[in-house]
Amino acid sequence: MSGGVYGGDEVGALVFDIGSYSFRAGYAGEDSPKAEFPTHYGFIEDTSVAMELDDPSNQKLEHKYYIDTNSIKVPRRGMEIQNFLKDGIIENWDVFEKFMDYTYSRYIKSESHMHPVLMSESSWNVRGKREKLTEIMFEKYNVPAFFLCKNAVLSAFANGRATGLVLDSGATHTTAVPVYDGYVLSQAIVKSPLAGDFISLECKKLMEEKEVEVIPPYLIASKEPVSDRQPAKWKKKEVPEVTKSFQNYMLKDVLQDFAASVLQVSDTPYDRSNAESMPTIHYEFPNGYNMDFGEERFKICEGLFDPSMIKDVPGNTMLSVGHVVTTSVGMCDIDIRPSLYSSVIVVGGNTLLNGFTDRLNRDLSSKTPPSMRLKIISPTGSAERRFSSWIGGSILASLGSFQQMWISKQEYDEGGKTCVERKCP
Ligand SMILES: Nc1ncnc2c1ncn2[C@@H]1O[C@H](COP(=O)(O)OP(=O)(O)OP(=O)(O)O)[C@@H](O)[C@H]1O
Ligand SMILES: [Mg+2]
Repeated sequence: MSGGVYGGDEVGALVFDIGSYSFRAGYAGEDSPKAEFPTHYGFIEDTSVAMELDDPSNQKLEHKYYIDTNSIKVPRRGMEIQNFLKDGIIENWDVFEKFMDYTYSRYIKSESHMHPVLMSESSWNVRGKREKLTEIMFEKYNVPAFFLCKNAVLSAFANGRATGLVLDSGATHTTAVPVYDGYVLSQAIVKSPLAGDFISLECKKLMEEKEVEVIPPYLIASKEPVSDRQPAKWKKKEVPEVTKSFQNYMLKDVLQDFAASVLQVSDTPYDRSNAESMPTIHYEFPNGYNMDFGEERFKICEGLFDPSMIKDVPGNTMLSVGHVVTTSVGMCDIDIRPSLYSSVIVVGGNTLLNGFTDRLNRDLSSKTPPSMRLKIISPTGSAERRFSSWIGGSILASLGSFQQMWISKQEYDEGGKTCVERKCP
């Protein structure tokens, strides 16, 4: 049988890894998650279902939720786009449960009481939320066993390390998390808001500067080819009146594609004349408008490595990606610093920007003493980079030696939700 995780009582464990950008879920032992879809969802607050009571003002709130890529991208009157995480931590538990219900029925296609669940969490998750999650998983989903593991630890495992400095640049933040012997050194976690969402915002500013009107696909009925920099020839689709959050979400989707296709991190600190001599990249927007991008390709990414380049943020104190790493290592015991620098594990979707790891390597080399052995470890495949914590969870949950680590249903029943503190440090 595939992966050897099924059969008898050895029912396959499930792994959930929830980021601010996407929700990842699948079976332990597999190479990649069965499901990946946005953590954003559509929400319509609907008061139209009147309760059968004498008082006509007494109406039952019938909210509507739209989950998963296809459903969320449909323009609907009054649909707001929201996210159930805040700062990488679950904020809206009702919506979290809707996502879980949806995932079990749509992708897992099996009952939750059949499968142990390993879930990732942010390294700065708090006690109350960890206990609440444990309670929901045992009480509502009736899981036979549960485990909660820091996503940085899982990313380190996925890269074959139990010790290393995990640099994770996702959508909402870039973090450096030291992992030592499989444990997070939480006093030395360093965060910066310079990540994927920042890049999207810079792309948006660039389009405004260049007076490129970005039209998301949902507004486009048809388009015709036009030559370089010529006004686009496209027909607008009739759509219901949408909310600002929907329009912004759809716009960001285009800008994220633009960033992934066009942007390039400069090898050396940004220098305009140097950047101007580099090859340009052609990009076609959804409405057919197309143009070449040159030095902007480099300039936009530079803010990640040199925040003084960021416009409109006077005297900003944000840390560059390199500084996030050095600050974090600097907060760790001097004895373990060499083992962290010799395993700087680079993960997260935003690190897929072309040239990201090369530049990080260069910046770190110039910031660390020559005697310090510096090694950047980064999976080459984009799935491995984006799903590293899911993959780490998949590996961990299928290890024979891990099976004794689970919080079993019985332990939960006897000890209550606080057992998560003891079993999952
Ligand atoms: N090929 C690519 N090039 C550049 N950026 C990319 C690429 N692929 C994904 N991204 C960006 O990576 C970000 C998502 O990364 P990731 O999936 O690691 O985030 P997350 O873990 O869900 O969120 P967070 O870590 O912020 O909670 C988005 O901003 C997306 O635009
Ligand atoms: Mg992440």
